[in-house]
Amino acid sequence: MEIITDISSLRSFLKNKASIAFVPTMGNLHEGHLSLVQMAKQQAECTVVSIFVNHLQFSPTEDFNQYPRTLEKDCTLLKDNDVTVVFTPSERTLYPEAQKVLLNLPPVANTLEGEYRPGFFQGVATVVLKLFNIVQPQVAIFGKKDYQQFYIVQEMARQLNFPIDILAGETIRAADGLALSSRNGYLNNDERIEASRLYKMLLLIKQAIEQGNKNFQKLQDNAKRILTQSGWKVDYIALQQRNTLNQATVEDHELVVLGAAWLNKTRLIDNLEIHD
Ligand code: PAJ
Repeated sequence: MEIITDISSLRSFLKNKASIAFVPTMGNLHEGHLSLVQMAKQQAECTVVSIFVNHLQFSPTEDFNQYPRTLEKDCTLLKDNDVTVVFTPSERTLYPEAQKVLLNLPPVANTLEGEYRPGFFQGVATVVLKLFNIVQPQVAIFGKKDYQQFYIVQEMARQLNFPIDILAGETIRAADGLALSSRNGYLNNDERIEASRLYKMLLLIKQAIEQGNKNFQKLQDNAKRILTQSGWKVDYIALQQRNTLNQATVEDHELVVLGAAWLNKTRLIDNLEIHD
């Protein structure tokens, strides 16, 4: 496995590779990331994983400084998973000067996560675009854990005519249902036990709708109320159309329920697709 930190070395290493599958990450890798790596390996001869904590997608009040950086352990995991190249650029390599060219995204980027994290998707899309141009993969893989991120990256690739297939990997969960996330490491023991409630509330909504319940407002309100009573601060619990991420109506069938909520100082997100 190669560990490459600069753009020109990466470009020359990748030059004659027949096919490249790419998994962008911010590191602190867990089984969720590794499941995407396994998908990548089935897609191409060469798998590239990037590790870069992208300041552009963090607001000044968020956890950029605190975000866990575990490069050595990450590289061991990636080597054990037979990755071809790990790309770990420095801040100066990816942003040698202030990034003034930024992507202007469609309105969906201002909803859900975008409403509570202004500028987040612009930061994500801009770094993903830069990484796509550096790695030039045929396939890139994102997790459904960050459903709206996957949706927006797919829209970006489609509308900007990137010759890249954007694939989604299923969310990998702990035994109690909590979606694996680097931010789970912020939780203390009591919070970790409570944390699976977000998933459980989304699952209740999914099951109710799959059994024919059409009272979307009540289902969402109920989940918010239970989370709030259990000590959470809910940003949103939202039933959306899968193909637009707009708010769902009772006529819609392809749905996804997305949620974001704070457990003390930790913000968790999750979602479930609904097949009614
Ligand atoms: P990061 O949070 O490190 O996630 C990297 C990829 O792993 C994303 O596509 C994410 O959806 C996926 N992932 C995270 N947890 C997962 C889980 N439990 N199951 C399956 N996949 C999971 O997302 C980012 O980094 C950044 O925004 C990035 C795209 C790298 C741009 O900076």
